[in-house]
Amino acid sequence: MGGGALLAQLLGFCFWGSLWLAGPVAAYSGGGLGKAAVVVDGAAAIAVTDENFVCATLDWWPPEKCDYGTCSWGLTSMLNLNLSNPILLNAVQAFSPLKLRLGGSLQDKIVYDTGNPQQPCVPFHINTSEMFGFSQGCLPMPRWDELNEFFKKAGALIIFGLNALNGRVPENDGSLGGPWNFTNAACLIQYTVNKGYTIHGWELGNELSGSGVGARIGADQYAADVITLKSIINDIYQGCPVKPLVLAPGGFFDAGWFTELVNKTKPNSLDVITHHIYNLGPGVDQHLVEKILDPTYLDGEAATFNSLQRILSSGGTSATAWVGEAGGAYNSGHHLVTDSFVFSFWYLDQLGMSSTYDTKTYCRQSLVGGNYGLLNTTTFHPNPDYYSALLWHRLMGRHVLRTNFTGSSMTRAYSHCAKESKGITLLLINLSGNTTTEVFVTTKTAYSALKTAESTREEFHLTAKDGDIHSQTMLLNGHILAVDSDGHIPELEPVKVAASEPITVDPFSIVFVHIPYFHAPACW
Ligand SMILES: *[C@@H]1O[C@H](CO)[C@@H](O)[C@H](O)[C@H]1NC(C)=O
Ligand SMILES: *[C@@H]1O[C@H](CO)[C@@H](O)[C@H](O)[C@H]1NC(C)=O
Ligand SMILES: *[C@@H]1O[C@H](CO)[C@@H](O)[C@H](O)[C@H]1NC(C)=O
Ligand SMILES: *[C@@H]1O[C@H](CO)[C@@H](O)[C@H](O)[C@H]1NC(C)=O
Ligand SMILES: *[C@@H]1O[C@H](CO)[C@@H](O)[C@H](O)[C@H]1NC(C)=O
Ligand SMILES: *[C@@H]1O[C@H](CO)[C@@H](O)[C@H](O)[C@H]1NC(C)=O
Ligand SMILES: *[C@@H]1O[C@H](CO)[C@@H](O)[C@H](O)[C@H]1NC(C)=O
Repeated sequence: MGGGALLAQLLGFCFWGSLWLAGPVAAYSGGGLGKAAVVVDGAAAIAVTDENFVCATLDWWPPEKCDYGTCSWGLTSMLNLNLSNPILLNAVQAFSPLKLRLGGSLQDKIVYDTGNPQQPCVPFHINTSEMFGFSQGCLPMPRWDELNEFFKKAGALIIFGLNALNGRVPENDGSLGGPWNFTNAACLIQYTVNKGYTIHGWELGNELSGSGVGARIGADQYAADVITLKSIINDIYQGCPVKPLVLAPGGFFDAGWFTELVNKTKPNSLDVITHHIYNLGPGVDQHLVEKILDPTYLDGEAATFNSLQRILSSGGTSATAWVGEAGGAYNSGHHLVTDSFVFSFWYLDQLGMSSTYDTKTYCRQSLVGGNYGLLNTTTFHPNPDYYSALLWHRLMGRHVLRTNFTGSSMTRAYSHCAKESKGITLLLINLSGNTTTEVFVTTKTAYSALKTAESTREEFHLTAKDGDIHSQTMLLNGHILAVDSDGHIPELEPVKVAASEPITVDPFSIVFVHIPYFHAPACW
């Protein structure tokens, strides 16, 4: 309130249908100061995510992959990533488990060297006359073994994207048709089972849906291929108590195409329908930050989540929705935007928004590689979004609560039941750089609990170093987050705040608030 630049607002929590109170009660205390409120409906969850909602991707891009004159992938391909790097291992282990989706554009150009048929296993090389500018590549089985050894040690849940272009022939309409030749894929799956490697899901194809990116396949044919993949998995995993998930199409949402895929794979050939999100435009775009800080722009993606949710709920399918790959800005992102503090605004807002539409898992492009890695491409040191992802993973439970913020549209608010703990976790994102807000937690129900042992809450305030939103260094409660000299991921320590105190949301900041005294029936 001082200096004209600060504004204090009161936010009340509305608590519906508690044990003690029948009907809605909005408990805005303090009276009068502000009109803004966070209203959390704790009566029932509006959506339920997977236990492990946070997911990240590994890609195939070789070091020669360049965009706009910059080659941002280095040695981060699944074919050459240094699996002995201790920070990489620690970063994945910190989630125990982290979901990892393995795939990307070149997945539909890779053969698995299962020795059948015999042909030389050659890596990708540049060929500008081929799709995506690269030749066919090959995954040697010894490398697949190393990867699986790493995944096991790191405790990762693996989703592997299979090559869906084998056997295709050009159709008159420009799409690719003909049934999927699954021979090579089936050999890889069989090899994987024989070796005892656990795979959480097998995904068919990358960005071949709708109008496609490098190529496209009609939904009718795709559905037939999904059914084929399901039966291959049922055969190979016969007798196994838990079978891996079948996912598809790992492409951009197209309502007509997705509707047809759902219709033709119902009721249960497809376990997960996956879609990709690059809603900010190309990495070279000069207006990425403006878009990220524009709440109307951020809201634009809700239409896609909403449409997909409706297709699934009316489609007679057991399939659920995942975001299978999302990097925000395509063609490898933008250095000092998609790998800096400001990108946590986009990323955490996406996690929050997608989960309200019953998205079960959200895979970030990428764990490492390009300009949008959670980890630095060369040093593997975590970028700000790594810590944002880890906090989400540790604090946000499965049950999603309807959360309305009635103040400035520059504030984004999401809440879930707390993860493995009492109460709820609230996520507040302030996209504004010039206003500090004080948030009072003042429900009647909360008040009644204040006299119990749980009279404090835990707050995690995330800000950019030196207030520079392009910084690649993030502060938690004012302290720099960084690995130590042995490459250990730091503890993420909250500050404890008395329930009677307001939550202060600084300009350009993000706050996770674990509120154990918010007694939501949805969370019991
Ligand atoms: C949030 O706002 C929507 C639309 O205005 C309303 O239907 C809903 O009941 C509100 N939810 C809560 C928890 O206030
Ligand atoms: C991989 O990382 C390990 C541990 O940091 C290092 O000793 C080794 O030299 C690296 N290997 C390559 C090929 O860079
Ligand atoms: C590049 O790809 C084209 C089209 O597939 C092929 O004809 C040509 O031989 C390739 N060039 C090299 C150097 O491999
Ligand atoms: C499918 O691909 C395999 C090689 O992986 C080949 O041997 C086989 O002939 C192909 N099948 C058909 C029907 O084209
Ligand atoms: C689903 O497919 C059936 C035929 O298999 C068709 O009659 C129906 O119109 C389709 N529904 C949608 C929503 O496409
Ligand atoms: C990775 O970290 C190094 C050392 O801090 C830094 O110079 C470089 O810009 C970072 N790379 C990316 C892509 O962020
Ligand atoms: C705060 O910043 C926004 C843009 O982020 C601007 O529109 C607004 O006028 C600023 N308000 C004040 C009080 O400076």
